[in-house]
Amino acid sequence: MILRLENVSKSFGALKVADSVTVSVPRGEALGIIGPNGAGKSTLFNLITGNLFANEGRIEFLGRDVTRAPAMERVRMGVGRSFQIPQPFEGLTVFENLLTAAAFGRGGREAEMVEDCAGILEATELLRKANFVAGSLSLLDRKRLELARALATGPELLLLDEIAGGLTEGEC
Ligand SMILES: Nc1ncnc2c1ncn2[C@@H]1O[C@H](COP(=O)(O)OP(=O)(O)OP(=O)(O)O)[C@@H](O)[C@H]1O
Ligand SMILES: [Mg+2]
Repeated sequence: MILRLENVSKSFGALKVADSVTVSVPRGEALGIIGPNGAGKSTLFNLITGNLFANEGRIEFLGRDVTRAPAMERVRMGVGRSFQIPQPFEGLTVFENLLTAAAFGRGGREAEMVEDCAGILEATELLRKANFVAGSLSLLDRKRLELARALATGPELLLLDEIAGGLTEGEC
């Protein structure tokens, strides 16, 4: 299993958002999480990534207990994610955003990172905008950049929180 949640619960005060969630995700599987606004989808993602901590339960990534591991450790282990509301460094260019994600999330030789980032820019159709400042991008390109940044960290597990949210059918 690449990911395993066992009886994971999370409350905000009296509001129980995750109630004893148990789920296993094998490598190579694409799992969709659906639910109405406020159901707790983003909260579940934040528990898996370490942006929030569970009140109860256990989270395993690649067989290792990460329940208490901070987000910065989990991303380096291979947990990549996009944010529902895109969170780029607004003042950096598209390419600088990717390189930052690659350097922080994965590391390695600079030439290798640059090459990988160029490939990701091409795959996400952002190559033409590599030198645009992130703050100047349209919603579609901000969503593309969010996916590109997640890929640049070299994830084993990729969590996409409403990556198509707010886009038209054609854009999706
Ligand atoms: N940090 C927080 N502090 C307090 N309450 C929170 C916090 N984060 C989320 N909530 C509440 O927890 C519930 C679940 O929110 P969450 O954002 O996980 O839902 P969601 O399924 O992602 O919704 P949406 O479809 O709107 O993105 C909501 O009632 C929300 O207001
Ligand atoms: Mg959400």
